[in-house]
Amino acid sequence: MPAIDPALIPENLRPAIEAMCATGAKLSRVIARGPLAGALGAGVGENSDGDQQKALDVMADEMFEAALRGTGVKYYASEEQEDVLTIDEGGTLALATDPLDGSSNIDVNVTIGTIFSIFEAAGGAQASFLRPASDQICAGYIAYGPQTLLAVTFGAGTMLFVLDPETGAFVLADKAMDLPAAAKEFSINASNRRHWTQPVLAYVEENETGKDGRKGKDMNFRWVGSLVAETHRILTRGGTFLYPSDARKGYENGRLRMVYEVAPMAFLVEQAGGKATDGVAPIMSLTAEELHERRPFVFGSAEEVDRIAALHG
Ligand code: AHG
Ligand code: MN
Ligand code: MN
Repeated sequence: MPAIDPALIPENLRPAIEAMCATGAKLSRVIARGPLAGALGAGVGENSDGDQQKALDVMADEMFEAALRGTGVKYYASEEQEDVLTIDEGGTLALATDPLDGSSNIDVNVTIGTIFSIFEAAGGAQASFLRPASDQICAGYIAYGPQTLLAVTFGAGTMLFVLDPETGAFVLADKAMDLPAAAKEFSINASNRRHWTQPVLAYVEENETGKDGRKGKDMNFRWVGSLVAETHRILTRGGTFLYPSDARKGYENGRLRMVYEVAPMAFLVEQAGGKATDGVAPIMSLTAEELHERRPFVFGSAEEVDRIAALHG
């Protein structure tokens, strides 16, 4: 039995999406066993960005890379690999992934995920990914939480699937996710307040003033520390997420990586009716210049993202 109904997937992407789903289902079983599956959160090295790699980061990367061989994916790019790998000379696709997002939550039983983005392979290994985000033909995330979920877009809306652990299949739960235009919640790592730019501080202060201020309504604050979990919450009930640039060394462009975190989430959010910007330009209009480059990221409910963009003047 396939891990996802092929009828819902464009033909050229079927083997790759099937591999992502089957591997996501397998990985969710490892994650569900937690410490019984070994020291998943143990540090094992460093990736090209200087982030500590945990055992599960490396395991997830190896599992997806192996599963994607022979599925039409020519180029494989990963947060955990410095360079693009050519995994199928005859393939036509370029897939980038954050194989395990939210690594700091591995050991605390909080939702973590996998993010992926697909382009048509064109012009070589790096060049296939260094293109406008609007060239993506598919983006998705798998969330490993109380449920294992897949949100995916092929450019005609965002679909939501839920893994049935009894059968190992991802079953369609929502054929068109609809991100509410108004928000009651916002997310930003508030410990960085002293490093924020003026527009970011102004937005957070508007939210904190709540119904006594310009906003005219109270806002709730949330910070999970897993982009996948925040994105899923926001796609489901609205809200905003900010990982802006700040004054810390190395955070000139925020923390999140354009190719395999920012661009795919922006595609999913826009396809569900939300918006995504770096503060100045829509993410979907931007082109990465380097594989692991960072990009300030603001997304969520349209009204809020418009307000944040206005504050950036
Ligand atoms: P990763 O685990 O792939 O390195 O990604 C972690 C990201 C993202 O998921 C999260 O939103 C953000 O980093 C958390 O950053 P802080 O530790 O600065 O809060
Ligand atoms: Mn990540
Ligand atoms: Mn990661």
